[in-house]
Amino acid sequence: MTSPHWDEARAAAYREFRFEFPEKTLARRTVVVAGGTGGLGSAIVALLAREGVNLVVGYHRDRGRAQRLGDAIEREFGRKLTLVEGNLSDASVRRSYLEAADRLGTPLSGAAIFSGDPARVAFQDLDHESVVASLESNYVGPVLLAKDLGDAMAVTKTGGSLVLLATMQATAAFPSSLNYAAPKAALVHAARILAQQWNSVRVNVIAPGATITGMAAASVQSGKYDRYIDAGAIPRFGRPEDIARAVRFFLEPDNYITGQTLLVDGGLTLRRDR
Ligand SMILES: NC(=O)c1ccc[n+]([C@@H]2O[C@H](COP(=O)([O-])OP(=O)(O)OC[C@H]3O[C@@H](n4cnc5c(N)ncnc54)[C@H](OP(=O)(O)O)[C@@H]3O)[C@@H](O)[C@H]2O)c1
Repeated sequence: MTSPHWDEARAAAYREFRFEFPEKTLARRTVVVAGGTGGLGSAIVALLAREGVNLVVGYHRDRGRAQRLGDAIEREFGRKLTLVEGNLSDASVRRSYLEAADRLGTPLSGAAIFSGDPARVAFQDLDHESVVASLESNYVGPVLLAKDLGDAMAVTKTGGSLVLLATMQATAAFPSSLNYAAPKAALVHAARILAQQWNSVRVNVIAPGATITGMAAASVQSGKYDRYIDAGAIPRFGRPEDIARAVRFFLEPDNYITGQTLLVDGGLTLRRDR
């Protein structure tokens, strides 16, 4: 007896070494990129725009930067971004993402949630307010948006993919990273539970290392991470394109991975310098 899941046409093709590597699989579909105007998010916005994806791009309050990104994408790729402004902690803002995706009229197939805050507070200054603020921006808002978008994709025929952004500091302990890294570690765990939640929506995490744009730019520029290059722990600093390619990999509609965290840190947390 043959399994009802057996695909003989496909098996026959493989026996003859014929494989499928489709391209531009997200073209004419909708992808949401929350925090997509930032140093890292804007690179996946560019990569997806080049592919012909309809994009809903969110930011908190820096409207000037959002408009400059919109202009750059239109100039370069001839595509108009749908921009959503506001704090992800606000339910009406999260609703705006869904409404914007709905209005585009193409299937919502993926979302990448880049929104976050470096939450830099010296250990001795940590107080109730700073801990709650970090939890709010690095965990509560992203998780609630993931829930809303995951629910929306789960009821479609094709399902979709959610990608959450953590940090290498969520998987390895770095001194003084308590306020930023611990909510991100919670996000990593939340992603695995969300991955169990829906059968047709995959959920994965990208954990970047020291990257030269966005919230790490000033630290990298100041030389804080130079010792990792000097001692051979990493070959160079991370670039937004490194992160964009990893996010795109998880967004691929036919991707076979869920519930995983991918470190994109050039090997920094392996500490090959020790
Ligand atoms: N850059 C790195 O090297 C690095 C390393 C590890 C992890 N990460 C993670 O990667 C993600 C992106 O970082 P980035 O460097 O691109 O940061 P960024 O340049 O500061 O951009 C952050 C983006 O998120 C938006 N945002 C922030 N808080 C928000 C909120 N409460 N509601 C809605 N939108 C919000 C910002 O909007 P506004 O511009 O309007 O504020 C902006 O679009 C973050 O989650 C960060 O923790 C970055």
